[in-house]
Amino acid sequence: MAEVENLQKIVSHCKEYGFIFPSSEIYDNLGAVYDYGQFGVELKNNIKEYWWKSMVQMHENIVGLDSAIFMHPTVWKASGHVDSFSDPLIDNKDSKKRYRADVLLEEKIDKLKEKGEKELAKKNLSSATEEEKIKASRDYAKGVLLETEYTKAAEAADFKRYKELIEEYEIACEVSGSKNWTDVRQFNLMFGTKLGAVDEDATDLYLRPETAQGIFVNFLNVQKTGRLKIPFGIAQIGKAFRNEIVARQFIFRMREFEQMEMQFFVRPGTQKEWFEKWKQTRMNWHLALGTAQENLRFHVHEKLAHYADAAEDIQFKFPIGFKELEGIHSRGDFDLSQHQKFSGKKLQYFDSEINENYVPYVIETSIGLDRMFLRVISESLKDEVLENGETRTVLNLPPALAPIKVAILPLLKKDGLPEKAREILNHLKFVGRTFYEEKDSIGKRYRRMDALGTPYCITVDHQTLEDNTVTIRERDTMQQDRIHMDEVAKIVGAKIDMNNLLRKAVG
Ligand code: GAP
Repeated sequence: MAEVENLQKIVSHCKEYGFIFPSSEIYDNLGAVYDYGQFGVELKNNIKEYWWKSMVQMHENIVGLDSAIFMHPTVWKASGHVDSFSDPLIDNKDSKKRYRADVLLEEKIDKLKEKGEKELAKKNLSSATEEEKIKASRDYAKGVLLETEYTKAAEAADFKRYKELIEEYEIACEVSGSKNWTDVRQFNLMFGTKLGAVDEDATDLYLRPETAQGIFVNFLNVQKTGRLKIPFGIAQIGKAFRNEIVARQFIFRMREFEQMEMQFFVRPGTQKEWFEKWKQTRMNWHLALGTAQENLRFHVHEKLAHYADAAEDIQFKFPIGFKELEGIHSRGDFDLSQHQKFSGKKLQYFDSEINENYVPYVIETSIGLDRMFLRVISESLKDEVLENGETRTVLNLPPALAPIKVAILPLLKKDGLPEKAREILNHLKFVGRTFYEEKDSIGKRYRRMDALGTPYCITVDHQTLEDNTVTIRERDTMQQDRIHMDEVAKIVGAKIDMNNLLRKAVG
């Protein structure tokens, strides 16, 4: 399957070039847990910086927070996670493979609709009305019908109906090919742990499944100490943990991952307008990376999470198809009201403009950092055929995100070239992350830097010793120019500047 091959290529590249390793590899890995290697951590930090700067630094009314992973257990009762944060699972009796029943149904809907869209395109009916589409394509109509049935079942949390739909629509296991399914069962995704040394006295805790709750419980602390006026936002980046049962697809679905979340508190009644605004703002943030518009799309949630009154995803065309990258949720006053109820403490805001006390409404933007990492790698990794017929693997990352900004390569390991190269490197360290390499032929070293996504390579040769000029090679064009070594910092600095992205992202 091409999809699996494409993902496998990314997995291999990430391992070979020190981006991502399976966790505890010498003990045969821990499923769906990964470690970021020396270049992965740099790329990850750069993505965080892009998000943090565009969300916090560029918005006067958004501030940051770093709340603890451990929280009082009642937080998760109040938030609804103890009762409702679960996945409906179904097993195939022949292969023993476990699936999420909702995912099986959503994939079937997508498949039917996509097949229908292709038929409609052939009949020149792509822009027909929904009604005309349903009449003209059987598959499209089946997709729409299943979507309606599934939404009804999801709203009623009717998991018996999930199974019936899986059977009615003849969904088969991808391993055994059989349609021999168990009943659908609910499985809570939170990891439990204990606080305290003695078992009997220990308190049951959870590893947080989202960073958002740390923001909600600190809402008044931040608002009061920051003298913040509504509308305002609180942003945070941090680890989250979910006991994902169907955890495949590399870093797309992990058990320990990182989220970049922002909760934006608004006056009740204005949430629709802010929901639209944040949808657009976040889409611009994604597009600023140079992604083609057709690889990103909004997707309206058919099944709303227990806290949301409206929700849309930004989906990206991953090697495994269009999948959720970020969620934008209108959470109403659900979380603050619940914490108010469970803690007995008021979580209200006095709006002096309208002279009213109220529990603010919330618009949330929530993106998985690891998923963003996968997106960046999957759209940057390319095999190119060069004019001379050779191929090269290049990671054409946006320069501001590249783990290494500039590599300094002495042509030979002798004649004073390494010393001169180090002199240049010591100067460039102040511009961005540098890399020194003297082993292998210059061609091989260029290829390695291409595969790591390094925007520039600087080659130091005998002429450098005479006139202080170096060769600067640009990653994407592979063009080489001879310039004075004093010009390098300016050229590299301009190219890797995070502000290039920020200006596009926030206008
Ligand atoms: N606070 C809202 C919330 O957590 P979510 O849709 O469950 O919403 C938000 O998660 C984002 O976190 C997703 O869009 C995805 O990018 C990321 N995410 C969720 N589960 C993940 C997992 N198991 N592995 C990696 N990323 C995940």
